[in-house]
Amino acid sequence: MTPVVPAGSAAHPAHLAPLPAFDLVIFGGSGDLAMRKLLPALFHRYRDGQIVDGTRIVGIARDTRSDEEYREQVRAALAASAEKEGAGAALADFLKLLHFRRLDLANDAGWEEFANEMRREQRVCVFYLAVAPQLFAVAAEKLHAWNLIDNDTRVVVEKPIGTDRTSADAINDALGHVFAERQIFRIDHYLGKETVQNLTALRFGNALFEPLWRAEHIDHVQITVAETVGVEGRAPYYDRSGALRDMVQNHLLQLLCLVAMEPPTSLDADAIRDEKLKVLRALRPIDAGNAAQLVVRGQYRNGAAEGRAVPAYAEELGHASNTETFVALKAEVRSWRWAGVPFYLRTGKRLPNRESEIVVTFRQVPHSIFEGVSELAPNRLVLRLQPDESVTMWLMNKVPGPGGLRLRHVPMDLSFAEAFGGRQADAYERLLMDVVRGNPMLFMRRDEVEAAWKWIDPIRAAWEANNDAPKPYTAGTWGPSAAVALIERDGRTWHEDAP
Ligand code: BG6
Repeated sequence: MTPVVPAGSAAHPAHLAPLPAFDLVIFGGSGDLAMRKLLPALFHRYRDGQIVDGTRIVGIARDTRSDEEYREQVRAALAASAEKEGAGAALADFLKLLHFRRLDLANDAGWEEFANEMRREQRVCVFYLAVAPQLFAVAAEKLHAWNLIDNDTRVVVEKPIGTDRTSADAINDALGHVFAERQIFRIDHYLGKETVQNLTALRFGNALFEPLWRAEHIDHVQITVAETVGVEGRAPYYDRSGALRDMVQNHLLQLLCLVAMEPPTSLDADAIRDEKLKVLRALRPIDAGNAAQLVVRGQYRNGAAEGRAVPAYAEELGHASNTETFVALKAEVRSWRWAGVPFYLRTGKRLPNRESEIVVTFRQVPHSIFEGVSELAPNRLVLRLQPDESVTMWLMNKVPGPGGLRLRHVPMDLSFAEAFGGRQADAYERLLMDVVRGNPMLFMRRDEVEAAWKWIDPIRAAWEANNDAPKPYTAGTWGPSAAVALIERDGRTWHEDAP
């Protein structure tokens, strides 16, 4: 495919326009998310001139440290990548925007001083709650009690929004009590990924795909989010969550919505979210009656991943557990557009590759004139989110040269890195700037979260009712064999890159 924008062409300045100075307060300011994702993202936006001097970034935690000590911690976290990008000087300037405040959500010490500081200027103020969801309600109450919320305030919450519909309602009620819905930004960082946005561009910016985007022409859709990592340092959280709540309820369902939604009338945030909501509501329920046929849950045992021997999930955890680290399922969207088209979803930890992709498989040609010459493979559109963001169209092509008419299934690649050049921005960069701008398009609305839990809860209930323990799979493989059977029963296979 020919790139739309030739490599190395000038950036469109509009989307990089500097934002007026703002305040961003990160609760959990010295935590893993802040150090690995939020602060690097802010630094890159600063380096590109989108965040201007005068902006204040305040890290909040319960321990005591000075601004200087906090800056040192951030410097250590960012130095290697800044060095690599030749941005050492920019990093030194960026660090000057950072401050640290010691605050505890459980008591009032320090809050008055903090509130006075924050109220000093009338500007956009973002409170990022990078803390456990049990603290969302307390934090909202505190911000309200200290009069820190006005029209220009926004709050950002990370998933998981609860562990089921009831707990999500409680969190949403608490946030809704003090913030208007337009001020609440529920992050699903998958929506900030380049390829995910490109899906919308491909579908609605080209006349080519939309007429084919329906049951008459699409055989099935696969969505895979595979990770090689285990539970890392997050075992206590993960063991209470499991892959269904950690990944399917949010990331995978959001991807499914973007593939399956009807064309929205505009890019307006609610126009898009209305369409996604309809998809969630149209999902065929999975419950105790059909879960055994439609869902596979697995848990990794010891094996090899990332080129080394790795322990079983239970060993990492230190005790036996019934939590799944892998889920594969077959979903169905009950609509005229998608009747009879299966959506196969799978995600897991300790799989062979870090590989996330959406694969749309078109139907076979109705009649082959090549019989006896070559077997025709169906066209596939592969949108790869990770590790390298790309779009690939698999087509049947003639093998060049003499020797008769032979056909081969070949990938036509559009690699973002090659086509557009430069560094690929992390999802958090875009999402954080959208929060400051007040654009909720890439964030989940309350009713979407509710609808997602409404579909997920009965699956969990079915596992409990059926006493469905996770099936073991060896670390470094593609999950339990039942996950292969799930799709092969239908005469299909999971997509692999080899033709
Ligand atoms: C998070 C999950 O939301 O997404 C993690 O809680 C998972 O368990 C992560 O590892 C994957 O994100 P990414 O962007 O690395 O695919």
